[in-house]
Amino acid sequence: MATSGGAWSWALCYWSIFTQVWIVFAAEEILLDTRSMSTLGGWTTYPVSDRGGWIEVSNINSDGHPVRTYQVCQVRREDQNNWLRAEWIPKRQGRRIYVEIKFSIRECRDIPNVVSCKETFDLYYFESDYPDATDDSPAWNDRTYTKVDRIAADGRFSHVNTEIINTEVRDIGPIFKRGFYLAFQDSGACISLLSVRVYYKVCPTITEHYAIFNKTVTGPSITSLVQAEGQCIPNSEPVGRQPTVQCTGTGEWTLFTGSCRCLPGYEPQRTVAQRCDVPKIFSVLSMVQVKVKSIYGCVCVGLRTTIVAMVTGRFSVKNAEQSS
Ligand SMILES: *[C@@H]1O[C@H](CO)[C@@H](O)[C@H](O)[C@H]1NC(C)=O
Repeated sequence: MATSGGAWSWALCYWSIFTQVWIVFAAEEILLDTRSMSTLGGWTTYPVSDRGGWIEVSNINSDGHPVRTYQVCQVRREDQNNWLRAEWIPKRQGRRIYVEIKFSIRECRDIPNVVSCKETFDLYYFESDYPDATDDSPAWNDRTYTKVDRIAADGRFSHVNTEIINTEVRDIGPIFKRGFYLAFQDSGACISLLSVRVYYKVCPTITEHYAIFNKTVTGPSITSLVQAEGQCIPNSEPVGRQPTVQCTGTGEWTLFTGSCRCLPGYEPQRTVAQRCDVPKIFSVLSMVQVKVKSIYGCVCVGLRTTIVAMVTGRFSVKNAEQSS
């Protein structure tokens, strides 16, 4: 145990690769998730629900929890134009925003006596600094709202084929104002909007090459790279210039450059450099070294410094440059 720990630390400290590709996976910062909301009271419909259009419905999700959903199914009349607008969503630090929609759509040919029937809906957003939208403002049309996409169901349900849930994710942005509204336009489909989850991606805090890289929000586009500077873990120092890393648009860290090394007399312990506990970690190694009385490099020290094994079994830190 002691030997393998020591050998591992040793290997780490002699790390001399200064640039490499390394992927660490993304995290999401949630801005809205209807699955954890007991009410969708801030949502607005046009026309108002008792004149047709979208209606709020209580449902039980697959885990047995009550959830609020919206449904619409106006297939008996032509020219449907039913809008549903989510509450105002502050973007916080988000630049590119992701919208995950779970929904089901009924197959048109499965519905008797349809006058007009669609199997898609349209997703829009509207930027706004404040939650100041009203029942009739912004105007309910595709010129005021910015269209994201027409969303079709991969699977549609029918009387023989129930419980087909579609999941679609779209990304929007960059958003320039403090927040935005999402809107769903129905033109005559039978839709159940089961959940809406809105989030942005971040590269999570990590410690790599003995440097701490803080959580970093992804850039405004999928191809953006956002550079983050690392801070050396306590009791360590940069090797050359400050370590850097790039946060990709999808929330992964990549292209690390530089690294840190422990100060003389310290050894790496995940997120901190600790004072060398030589007798414990190197007990086996040091015995060997003491026997041959040779000088060896310690985990704790970089290329400049070595630890000299003393016959007593105690160690002192010496700077190789000074001693040479
Ligand atoms: C990382 O975050 C901590 C705590 O918020 C802060 O003290 C530190 O300066 C940040 N590091 C960098 C490199 O920005």
